Amino acid sequence: MADLVLGVDLGTSGVGVVAQTADGRVLARADAPLKLTTPRPGWTEQDPDDWWSAAETALAEVAREVGGERIAAISLAGQMHGMVARDRRQRAVHPALLWNDQRTSAEVDEIHARVGRERLIERGGNPAITGFQLPKVLWLRRHAPEAFASAALIMLPKDDLGLHLTGEAIAEPCDASGTGLYHLGTGTWDEEVLGALDLDVRLWPRLVTSTTIVGGLRGALATTLGMPADVPVVAGAGDNAAAATGLALGSANPDVGSVSLGTSGVLQTPSAAPTPHPEGRVHLFAHADGAFLLLGVTLAAAGSLRWYRDTFAPGRSFDELVTEAASAPVGAGGVTFKPYLAGERTPHLRADLRGSFHGLSLATDHAQVVRAVLEGVACSLREALDVMTPLARPERLLATGGGAASDAWLTILADTLALPLGRPVDPQGAPLEVGAAEGAAWLGWQALGEAPERSPRADVWFEPAAERAEATEEAYARYVAVGV
Ligand code: XUL
Repeated sequence: MADLVLGVDLGTSGVGVVAQTADGRVLARADAPLKLTTPRPGWTEQDPDDWWSAAETALAEVAREVGGERIAAISLAGQMHGMVARDRRQRAVHPALLWNDQRTSAEVDEIHARVGRERLIERGGNPAITGFQLPKVLWLRRHAPEAFASAALIMLPKDDLGLHLTGEAIAEPCDASGTGLYHLGTGTWDEEVLGALDLDVRLWPRLVTSTTIVGGLRGALATTLGMPADVPVVAGAGDNAAAATGLALGSANPDVGSVSLGTSGVLQTPSAAPTPHPEGRVHLFAHADGAFLLLGVTLAAAGSLRWYRDTFAPGRSFDELVTEAASAPVGAGGVTFKPYLAGERTPHLRADLRGSFHGLSLATDHAQVVRAVLEGVACSLREALDVMTPLARPERLLATGGGAASDAWLTILADTLALPLGRPVDPQGAPLEVGAAEGAAWLGWQALGEAPERSPRADVWFEPAAERAEATEEAYARYVAVGV
């Protein structure tokens, strides 16, 4: 009996696959690593053919574990914003440029000059951003003109994987709205923007909804993967919208958002209307439920703690460091950390920003410095929340990602955001990973018409503490006053 949907997350460091039942139990999981190359500082590339082979490895492993005949559908999620250009014979004409690639500042300026920054925000919800797909296409046209001339199709990463699985080229709104060439109001590629840049809309695939069955698994692949031919493949969503789906966030529950503490930190809030921030200081993307998501990104969240550990406290565990940080007073004895180790997105949108410590003195001890790192990341997320607030303010947030396993860090974050934070847990009380692959699987069940009604749920809550509020606000005010 086909009783499992495979959710695939084409991440940056690997492809993850889960096999999920219609009531949300994950019965098997596999990961296959991906290589990332940085040919120059600020450039990040992957070979799109590696995505295909890593996905095959992880899909075959899960199929072996659960039995291929149990697979009812495959549904996709993945890293947003990337660009793969393929020729008429579907060969990649250039390595894929990824979401964190920063090479396109000149193209971002060109888009703003030719289209107008405000006009872009009004139509697409965001200004041009170095990581987005559109400036990458202009970069390819300028710096690899022969490759660009032979391009017949421009794909986003997880849709490129869907092309391999089914032979069908599509895009869906969640990921399309992270390209810079999608009109949020009309739900179509923005031909006016493309026209202003002399780009032909026929380079982009047709748009379908996130719960569309795109096609069946190609026969030859089905044999390799140990699955029946024609297993339905579902369009799915960009990784953030997929993760939000996994947590049951959406317009049905507008007061619940999420915050993830992974390498980067992401704060998401559902929004019923495509109303952007007037200056584009938070992202606005389409959600898989037909509504929208406001999204703030701090680029170095758990990444800041990793950098600190690797640089100043090698050999110490994250747990040890966070426990030590919790022993320091709120406000870290006056030390402020700005977490711009990889530039910053929200609310500054500046790739050139750099991190710093402020307020060090002879009295500063190690616990205070580590606490400052955790508080700095929390303050950066608070800045994103403050910018979002006039548009949509959540009443509570679900917390996910590696950093959310730490009670001490969630306490600091709940205090700083002045919102209750809930941690999804499994029946044994262990932190429950609800990521993009799980969310993709839910979209697969929706496409099959078999998804149950769900609502956002967490079993452990961290409440902001009134007795720490004054000191926390003081620390945040200091963080803001330090500037960038
Ligand atoms: C969101 C963003 C990242 C990528 C990572 O705007 O750039 O979250 O989707 O996979």
